[in-house]
Amino acid sequence: MVVEKNIPLQAFNTFRIVAKAHALARITHEQDVRDLLADPEWAAAPKFVLGGGSNIVLTGDVKPLVLKVEVPGLKVVGETAKAVIVEAGAGENWHDFVTWTLDQNLPGMENMALIPGTVGASPVQNVGAYGVELQDRFDSLDAIDLQTGQVFTLNAAQCAFGYRDSVFKHASSGEMDMHQPLGLKDRALILRVRFALPKVWKPVLGYADIERKMAEHGVAEPTPRQIYDWVCEVRRAKLPDPAVIGNAGSFFKNPTVTAEQCEDIIARDPKVVHYRLDNGSVKLAAGWLIDSCGWKGKSVGQAGVYEKQALVLVNRGAGVDGNGATGGEVMTLAKAIQTSVYERFGILLEPEPVVI
Ligand code: EPU
Repeated sequence: MVVEKNIPLQAFNTFRIVAKAHALARITHEQDVRDLLADPEWAAAPKFVLGGGSNIVLTGDVKPLVLKVEVPGLKVVGETAKAVIVEAGAGENWHDFVTWTLDQNLPGMENMALIPGTVGASPVQNVGAYGVELQDRFDSLDAIDLQTGQVFTLNAAQCAFGYRDSVFKHASSGEMDMHQPLGLKDRALILRVRFALPKVWKPVLGYADIERKMAEHGVAEPTPRQIYDWVCEVRRAKLPDPAVIGNAGSFFKNPTVTAEQCEDIIARDPKVVHYRLDNGSVKLAAGWLIDSCGWKGKSVGQAGVYEKQALVLVNRGAGVDGNGATGGEVMTLAKAIQTSVYERFGILLEPEPVVI
């Protein structure tokens, strides 16, 4: 097991922030983790699990040992009465995995095309787009305990999925029953994820952007491939390509408020974009809140608010070799946005990426 020292992380985070890992190990198999745990130099060292780096803001060099997950593999592993079960290694690129499922004639993932990042990172924040969330297609995952080296399997309930949330985002606390974990942040490394793809496929429509594409193309019953193509087109038009402009996707979660709070905001801002949820509360479009505070196109240093979508913060610095925004600039901009949205609407926006 080779541990590399002083490794630049700019190419390993989609914000393209310049920072270094003091030490980095590439994990292609669970044995790599066990080897580290058997090595006195690394066994007890704090560890940080890095997937595609698409949901992190680096505010300095990373002192914990970085475990860069590169576990490969895409295969069909079984079936139930209602679904085909496919398994992907945690290091696989998410979009390549979605494309592979369609190439196998196994639809169900198409609404989540082109989400940046790796398969292993996808359960951490329960990724989702255009009406489908990871938890809707999730079967189970295998992870390895970073303290004991033991591999364990979790089902959806054990992952405690929520909106952009899971057990992997919450801090662990000492002794733990891995079958009922309370928090697995920095405690577990996801190795493989299994998905249940429905044998009887039904399109998930209803999202304005997708409905617009159906009308444009005069299609009432789209195929999985058409939805996939439209989702890719919509995302390419609205969201910056991290290969060109550094970013971490939506920077804030869409906040949920009570019906009364929403009425109060509507009374002052009738155009507020909102969606009523089944439980009576209301989800507001954070992008609209930020946009209406005038943030689109604004910058702090090299960190900026994307011109076409106020929910996305971008690195205006040069490409992979340039210096660009610092994590500090990104966080200063994020805090200024939080303050102005709070002062105008009384809502504290919660960042989506993990700040390191
Ligand atoms: N809006 C504005 N101004 C803006 C941005 C948005 O007025 O600058 C309005 C839009 O017009 C629209 C509403 O806000 O009426 C919602 O915007 P959009 O449909 O673009 O979706 P979103 O709520 O901004 C969420 C996810 C995205 C996901 C899309 C599609 C979150 C935090 N973000 O964005 O996920 O792709 O829905 O499902 O839930 C991500 O998490 O990184 C991500 C990109």
